[in-house]
Amino acid sequence: QTIFVLNGPNLNMLGTRKPEIYGITTLADIEEQVRKRAAQAGFDVQFMQSNHEGALIDEIQRARTEAAAIIINPAAYTHTSVAIHDALEAAELPVVEVHLSNVHRREDFRHRSFVSLQATAVIAGAGAWGYTMAIDFLAHYLNEKS
Ligand code: DQA
Repeated sequence: QTIFVLNGPNLNMLGTRKPEIYGITTLADIEEQVRKRAAQAGFDVQFMQSNHEGALIDEIQRARTEAAAIIINPAAYTHTSVAIHDALEAAELPVVEVHLSNVHRREDFRHRSFVSLQATAVIAGAGAWGYTMAIDFLAHYLNEKS
């Protein structure tokens, strides 16, 4: 089973971008942690980051036929993108929405998520651990479903 791990705009800047909010872990570090945890759970991983909404949507459409589940940190598109919402709806897959920061204790505009409407589970504020937590969750969830 393959899990797609998708990352939205500016997450390529992790490590240098507002470390007081997002931590010092880089996206490459997160990818390594995710791959390790996924391998232990017996999953293959497709890991990608894009600053472009359409590229993320192309990947979600690909996941529809190629993935067992999607882990997505849509970054700022969380709060704006009806198109990503619609793509996730069409994918008909379990979705785990991950945010490094606790969006609920930040600015009001981060409190609304279009993606949560399509999410099986939401993890926010656990930092980079959120991604490995998402893998652990899916290991249980997909196992229960099959
Ligand atoms: C984020 C939270 C978003 O509000 C923000 O736009 C991001 C990162 C997070 O991981 O905490 O870019 O998704």
